[in-house]
Amino acid sequence: MTEGAPCLRAEHLSFRWPSGQSALHGCDLTIPSPGLWMLVGSNGSGKSTLLRLIAGLLEPGGGRLQTPLKPALVFQNPDHQLLLPSCGSDVELSLPPQLSRSERLQAVEQALEQVGLTGFRQRPIHSLSGGQKQRLAIAGALACRGQLLLLDEPTALLDETSQREVLQLIHALSRRPEQPITALWITHRLEELDWCDGAALMQAGRIGPWRSGASLQQQLRPLAPGKG
Ligand SMILES: Nc1ncnc2c1ncn2[C@@H]1O[C@H](COP(=O)(O)OP(=O)(O)O)[C@@H](O)[C@H]1O
Ligand SMILES: [Mg+2]
Repeated sequence: MTEGAPCLRAEHLSFRWPSGQSALHGCDLTIPSPGLWMLVGSNGSGKSTLLRLIAGLLEPGGGRLQTPLKPALVFQNPDHQLLLPSCGSDVELSLPPQLSRSERLQAVEQALEQVGLTGFRQRPIHSLSGGQKQRLAIAGALACRGQLLLLDEPTALLDETSQREVLQLIHALSRRPEQPITALWITHRLEELDWCDGAALMQAGRIGPWRSGASLQQQLRPLAPGKG
């Protein structure tokens, strides 16, 4: 990464779906450094559309999007992302094509180790817990050399234990001494903001400034249904 360049800079992004529905307009977002950055916003505010633009799956209608990092998406439901029957074969699918057989094996083992799934290479995916599946999806993102992880409500379907596993994993990856990842994490679970390096609120296709997780929690807690 170029010294001093932000991990992501989005300026005045706009996007309209073919249906005519505007999803983003005048959306600005700068991620200054590696870390765990969280976005919160009500349904339909444009969060998933933004991640698809950053991932390159959609083209912005206007504005600029710059990042020196390779993006990789992680979805809410890992079953939509995991394609092959065993953990090793699924991670292998994400590897760059030019590697030799032994390099592939080593890269698979390494990716599994990075997400705490050492020894899982031959395990069938259907035998994994939800949290293990989500960590396997993250192993795929790391195996394809993803440096900017785009996580779209990655814990929404997980129980509390698995939620914590995935949060701790991304938090640790964003702090590893060599090539710390940059994570942009979308959540509805306000308690997750305890873990972030910065949090921002998305509303009607635009994003507010970075704030501390605690200050956003304080603003939103009284609005969250059923939370004390
Ligand atoms: N595939 C799609 N086709 C048409 N409109 C869409 C599509 N996906 C999202 N939208 C619309 O774009 C806006 C932003 O949606 P989305 O990015 O999914 O928001 P969020 O992830 O914050 O819930 C909403 O008005 C939504 O209805
Ligand atoms: Mg969404």
